Amino acid sequence: MPESPEVSGLTPRSIEELTQAAVQELEGLSDQESLEAWRVAYLGRRGRLTLMLRGLSQLDLEQRRTTGALANQAKRTLEERLERRTREISEGELARIGLQDSIDVTLPGRPMALGRLHPTTQILREICDAFVAMGFGIVEGPEVEWDHYNFEMLNIPKGHPARDMWNTLWIDYSNEAGEQPMLLRTHTSPMQARVMEASQPPIRVVVPGKCYRYEATDATHEWHFYQVEGLAVDDGITFADLKGTLYEFARRLFGADRKVRFRCDYFPFVEPGVDMSIDCFACDGRGSGCRICRDSGWIEIMGAGMVHPRVLAGVGYDPEKYTGFAFGLGPERIAMLKYGIEDIRLFYSNDLRFLRQF
Ligand code: DAH
Repeated sequence: MPESPEVSGLTPRSIEELTQAAVQELEGLSDQESLEAWRVAYLGRRGRLTLMLRGLSQLDLEQRRTTGALANQAKRTLEERLERRTREISEGELARIGLQDSIDVTLPGRPMALGRLHPTTQILREICDAFVAMGFGIVEGPEVEWDHYNFEMLNIPKGHPARDMWNTLWIDYSNEAGEQPMLLRTHTSPMQARVMEASQPPIRVVVPGKCYRYEATDATHEWHFYQVEGLAVDDGITFADLKGTLYEFARRLFGADRKVRFRCDYFPFVEPGVDMSIDCFACDGRGSGCRICRDSGWIEIMGAGMVHPRVLAGVGYDPEKYTGFAFGLGPERIAMLKYGIEDIRLFYSNDLRFLRQF
């Protein structure tokens, strides 16, 4: 049988020898690059085993059957060995850097948990933005406050029955001057006096901040909550300014179609004092059968009024020269209305199922 140079050596023995040599060589390799070089040398398009297999066609039938089977077996053997060695080496590399058991690099990555702003923070920003757009500045004040600012300066002297509207937690405090009544502020209104003491008209500020009350909690009462106070003082400010400003605010937060209603209310530091309502956005003011406005068609959203002359005089302003308006609102209540939240306690109970919705 004529033998071409390539076919020469294509015998069971030569296949066996080639396989052994290849396997031996393979066992000595220790990195992925030399494995690749080995693959090309034996199993590549011009690899030694590949060329041998090509020579099969030139053998006679009987030889082709036996030798062919052996050659194909040899090819499978080399492929399997290569796969195994590749795995061994990569496991070895992982083990070397000490990560074999701690990281499964084939696992899909864990998504990063995205944080978000607390619903109270979101609504506080929305409320403050509305007033900033109308020229108000933002200031903050102390949560632990003197009785002096929380009550006295707001025309609520000791023994005044209006103090009953604001029960709170008292702090034991005394200095050289003796006992100083100190408390967790019950509202942000004390900042009215602090801001006026520290500056001169014109004043336009909003004061977001945390407040506390000695209170049994239920769906609409918390012992700690936020308020946003507002104060505008200048020469010639009237009740019309109060109405215009708060009307604009209501439309910004609850939609351009909202109507507003002012009714007389009592707060010792304003005169006249009002509560402000918007017509119910859920039933469009119709009222009957509406859960949001409880059939009334109106929703109270804040207290307000013209700054009491005694409060102005208390900080040294001339009440004959300056007038102003003040307002106070509860952001949680605004958020509850806007987003249909039925229990104020959800805000501060740290339940992620609730918080994630915002
Ligand atoms: N401080 C009041 C409260 O906590 C709310 C309030 C009412 C603030 C009328 C004001 C106001 O500035 O004018 O109940």
